[in-house]
Amino acid sequence: MRLVAEDTKILFVGDVVGGIGRRTLTALLPSLRERLQPDFVVVNGENAAGGVGITPKVAQQMFDAGIHAITLGNHTYRHREVYSYLDSESRIVRPANFLRSQPGHGWCVVENEGVRLGVVSLSGNLFMNAGRAAFPEADAALHALKDQADQVLVDMHAEATSEKVGMGWHLDGRVTAVVGTHTHVPTADARVLPGGSAYITDVGMTGPRGGVIGVKREQALEALVTRMPVRFETSDQDPWLNGVLITTDGPMRARSIEQVLEPAPGVS
Ligand SMILES: [Fe+2]
Ligand SMILES: [Fe+2]
Repeated sequence: MRLVAEDTKILFVGDVVGGIGRRTLTALLPSLRERLQPDFVVVNGENAAGGVGITPKVAQQMFDAGIHAITLGNHTYRHREVYSYLDSESRIVRPANFLRSQPGHGWCVVENEGVRLGVVSLSGNLFMNAGRAAFPEADAALHALKDQADQVLVDMHAEATSEKVGMGWHLDGRVTAVVGTHTHVPTADARVLPGGSAYITDVGMTGPRGGVIGVKREQALEALVTRMPVRFETSDQDPWLNGVLITTDGPMRARSIEQVLEPAPGVS
């Protein structure tokens, strides 16, 4: 029997974009489960419904597929029907540093085979619309999770690389992993920091690489070229799953973080 909190494997999947992202996740998850043997699967679902936001139905489908927890981001409140669900479903978290008056909560604890995983969602403050500061709220979340979790995964949903790198250093040694999301482009800096926390600036997205961070490229290009408003739809070209696999080395310590970058050529 393994020791609690040692050799726990956490698969974190970057922003699932639209139906094509959901189908990519569903198509690849069985083989990833077999190959990587994750104890926990956590997914960023902020773009899961129609490319922007999430609905209770989509979230429930993810939970039914064995996803342990869902993190969100700046698109949390796109669909009104999700507001009460965010209050009632503990396993879905929106950034902890949103206003306390906004629906939902910023952290949760999920359990598998006696291991308790805390999941914290944070939003950056640079070029983002979070109502409160990320750094003190990260400390408050860890204080609230004290003695509640064996491992803690933090999703730092932010635009600026500086803020994400800073959050990695701020939490190093106090959490199992700090993973960045939001830019939809994976970065090449996955590593375990000196204090024992796994870190990556951006995990990337699970969706169509053939578009512009998820949007049909002709529409994105029209907007960029003309500077006029364009209605965006989700691209359906070249879907990939972008994630990371974190293996633990004891409570709140990571041994390794590896990128999981998988094409899904048969998915459309
Ligand atoms: Fe996103
Ligand atoms: Fe985002």
